[in-house]
Amino acid sequence: MIRSHHCGELSLPQVDQTVTLAGWVASRRDHGGVIFIDIRDRYGLTQIVFDSEENAQLHAIADRLRNEYVISITGTVSARPDESKNPHIPTGSIEIRAKTLELLNEAIPLPFSIEDEAQASESLRLEYRYLDLRRPRMQQLLQLRSQVSHLTRQYLHEKQFIEVETPILTKSTPEGARDYLVPSRVNPGDFFALPQSPQLFKQILMIGGLDRYFQIARCFRDEDLRLDRQPEFTQIDLEMSFVDREDIIQLIEDLIRLIFKETKQIDLPSPFPRLSFEEAMSRYGTDKPDLRFDLPLQDLCQFATACDFQVFRRAIESQGMVKALVIPKGASFTRNRIDNLIETAKEFGAKGLAWVKISEDGQLDSSIAKFLNTEDLRNALPSANPGDLLVFVADQASVVHQVLGRLRLLLGEELQLVDRTQWKPLWVIDFPMFEYDEASQRHVALHHPFTAPHTEDIPLLDSQPLLAKTLAYDLVLNGFELGGGSIRIHSPSMQEKVFDLLKISKDEAREKFGFLLNALESGAPPHGGIALGLDRLMMLLGQTESIRDTIPFPKTQKAQCLMTHAPSSVDSGQLQELSIRTTAKKPAPSP
Ligand code: AMO
Ligand code: AMP
Repeated sequence: MIRSHHCGELSLPQVDQTVTLAGWVASRRDHGGVIFIDIRDRYGLTQIVFDSEENAQLHAIADRLRNEYVISITGTVSARPDESKNPHIPTGSIEIRAKTLELLNEAIPLPFSIEDEAQASESLRLEYRYLDLRRPRMQQLLQLRSQVSHLTRQYLHEKQFIEVETPILTKSTPEGARDYLVPSRVNPGDFFALPQSPQLFKQILMIGGLDRYFQIARCFRDEDLRLDRQPEFTQIDLEMSFVDREDIIQLIEDLIRLIFKETKQIDLPSPFPRLSFEEAMSRYGTDKPDLRFDLPLQDLCQFATACDFQVFRRAIESQGMVKALVIPKGASFTRNRIDNLIETAKEFGAKGLAWVKISEDGQLDSSIAKFLNTEDLRNALPSANPGDLLVFVADQASVVHQVLGRLRLLLGEELQLVDRTQWKPLWVIDFPMFEYDEASQRHVALHHPFTAPHTEDIPLLDSQPLLAKTLAYDLVLNGFELGGGSIRIHSPSMQEKVFDLLKISKDEAREKFGFLLNALESGAPPHGGIALGLDRLMMLLGQTESIRDTIPFPKTQKAQCLMTHAPSSVDSGQLQELSIRTTAKKPAPSP
């Protein structure tokens, strides 16, 4: 046996026992005749004492130990004198007086030290991930992730879900991102796509009669990365037959409440509040509002129609809108700060940002004040107080919402309106089925093309498809989209109709989704499901800023793995075998 206990386990009850511990040298402190070593493993730290008066030879060996050497020591547990007890660690009341020491492995000098508050840059941490993973913080995050996976499996198994693995080498699915492709050697010129999600397979599983499916599924999307996006990520993916929207919402709420309670002793509300897509957009400018603070977008269309300011009037006349944010105490902002706000608004897509300060005596102060009637503005914005700053965007709805929604978040942070102790989950429901994409001049599905419309909205598909709402639902937590799903279309004719509205031709639909259409024609039960982003859930639950901290081997912003240097070039023989020639101008790989 290499060890009798782990490094986080011993305390006063074990005093006088002889124990063997193994782990990494976390620190070495030389106090003349006595050397103190902290030995670390996943479970904690224990202090080891090498006293030259007790054993000079052992003391000499301990003197040669360096950080991150791997050692095993045997010794006696002894109580520390009161003045040297460390109340901050569970083993802080004892130390081990070493009798034998075995050096299991040495370590070269490391590029950074292993401690919770990593001083190293993220790229260094990713290059030497094996060292980064030794940090207690990273270990806690991975342990938490394992606990969440375990709770999820247990919960879903208890509810009769069957865990099924779906293929990784598959056909392109329309989740909206670019596919990662894998060339087929035996079918020259043909490609597999890595799944953007198991969407079509889980629907097929329902048609296959499995009734309740789940999978902790890896998904791959070649899209621009952000702080909450990885090219390779994990979903808690599930699908159920013979259910309606409420069944799935209930199941997922209970799971999320269970996870927060069991792992963090956090009580989430029951039920989670709900907002329609329309309400969320109109009040917060986004379909994933952070409800930890309010600062809502205020509608000023009526006021704008009647005012003398051309910019506002023109926006309304061209079917746009005018909305404002009331920034509490913002009248004290300097001109410089307001100019920065205007610049930011322009970066977010605004043509301009009009502003008005309300002075302490209620007067309007701004370059556009002469166009505005104080009384009318006060009536239009009853929540605005003396001392506040109003900022306005006039434009098409999508621009107004995008700009003010993002300014709201920015100001929420800057003005410290976000209460970090709060957890604000919500469901966003009743999404429109389609949005109109100006670039391609056609409808695109807001979720995916398998999402069912509200029954009462079916007639709208023929007359005004942009008004049709779906049975989709997104779970949002503190401003992050944690999951999304829907009741699916189970009628083949409805599915064909939707493909038609999306301008997917019959031939293309048959070629891409023929198996689904056939399956739908072969006795498909009504079904629906959802997928939760596990990495995002861990990011929130683990209270870490980056999704990369929740993934053991993540990719960088440029979709690279700094440890293995993937992706990398391959030799020409491999490419030839795959019938592939690259047009990338790169130096040939060194042999
Ligand atoms: P959707 O595309 O909304 O739905 O994805 C579901 C959830 O997965 C997470 N997610 C991501 N996490 C990290 N990195 C990414 N690049 C990334 N992309 C998505 C989000 C998101 O809410 N098949 C449907 C689900 C369904 O309809 O059942 C789907 O994949 O948290
Ligand atoms: P201008 O007439 O372009 O000088 O703009 C007058 C004021 O209106 C400036 O403060 C601009 O920032 C602001 N402004 C211009 N366009 C918009 C817009 N679309 N929405 C809100 N404010 C605007």
